[in-house]
Amino acid sequence: MSKIQGRTAAPGKGKENLLRLLEEAQSKSGYLSEEVITELARSVAMSVSDVYGVATFYSFLSTKPLGRNVVRICRSLPCHLKDSGMIIKSIEDELGIKPGETTPDGKFSLELTNCIGACDEAPAVLINNDVHGNLTPKKIIAILKSYK
Ligand code: FES
Repeated sequence: MSKIQGRTAAPGKGKENLLRLLEEAQSKSGYLSEEVITELARSVAMSVSDVYGVATFYSFLSTKPLGRNVVRICRSLPCHLKDSGMIIKSIEDELGIKPGETTPDGKFSLELTNCIGACDEAPAVLINNDVHGNLTPKKIIAILKSYK
């Protein structure tokens, strides 16, 4: 057995648990560094490139450092049809960054994501672990200010 971030992966079980292990490692380190991915790959007996492929496939995982608050804007169809583009533009204007970027003060990162399970409240965003829905440009600006 090998250890990753204080966790032990049983041989043969690691692959099934890879996503959970990646989420745990990210929650401890804030992101998945090259070192973390390499160690994790060793612990689950997978190649580094395979683990990296999984880490970069899921929009909730990040291989680069993120800001203190991570704003994930849903880009899936129901939100798109409710004009999520307007919400994205409002956030970009308020924070001065584009999706995939972090503010220079490290307070906010902006990411696009797939459905966050709040389609009935579209357009919706996830800020850290908080879902905010039925957004308007005015509402999202007020919400962002509450995180500053
Ligand atoms: S499509 Fe946006 S929350 Fe589901």
